[in-house]
Amino acid sequence: MTSIPISTERLVIRPWRDDEAPRLLDILRRDEIVRWLGHPRTLETVEEARAKIAGMAMELPMSEWAFEVAATGVPAGSVMLVPIPRSEQPDGSSLVQIGWYAHPDATGHGYVTEAARAVLEYGLASGLREIRALTHTDNYPSMRVCDRLGMTYLGVTEDWYDDAPSSHYVVRAGQWPARGQQVTR
Ligand SMILES: CC(C)(COP(=O)(O)OP(=O)(O)OC[C@H]1O[C@@H](n2cnc3c(N)ncnc32)[C@H](O)[C@@H]1OP(=O)(O)O)[C@@H](O)C(=O)NCCC(=O)NCCS
Repeated sequence: MTSIPISTERLVIRPWRDDEAPRLLDILRRDEIVRWLGHPRTLETVEEARAKIAGMAMELPMSEWAFEVAATGVPAGSVMLVPIPRSEQPDGSSLVQIGWYAHPDATGHGYVTEAARAVLEYGLASGLREIRALTHTDNYPSMRVCDRLGMTYLGVTEDWYDDAPSSHYVVRAGQWPARGQQVTR
């Protein structure tokens, strides 16, 4: 079964390292990124970025990871499998969502799609029955990532986030297109 780290054609998906806090800060200090993430606010200091890295690990297959461009060794951004807030199910589990963000110097190359495809495969292979994605309804770059991944669009939901409605996508075990297959609308 796939495990972390995961190597893809151009990337390595692995935990953020403590010494990469300045790089993470240079992403999460930007309001134009953080405004889409449901984060409370932008990060201001390397110490805050270090604390965020220290808090990323969860019980696998949930976590947040860096996706590093293998050719440079530099993280392009983050991809994560995390619980959806306030989505507790009768059995006590929470629904799971995939999330992502990238440094502006690394967008426009398909890295996010490549990293997310590998993490969806990893999550489903690890036993998750379904993985959702929730984006602001005007977050067109993120919705295009969902489309490129072949995620199924379920419509607009206001179920879990209070700040704004979300475009809601899902992949389900056994129903997701194989690697490399792309769906466009
Ligand atoms: C959402 C976000 C991660 C998307 O980043 P991105 O760089 O557009 O996504 P990808 O890395 O998959 O790149 C896809 C783009 O690269 C282009 N591209 C270039 N080479 C490519 C390749 N080899 N493979 C696929 N796409 C490629 C695609 O055409 C696409 O551009 P388009 O959307 O204008 O058509 C980024 O905008 C971001 O960090 N936003 C702020 C945080 C955020 O919104 N997070 C999501 C919250 S729900």
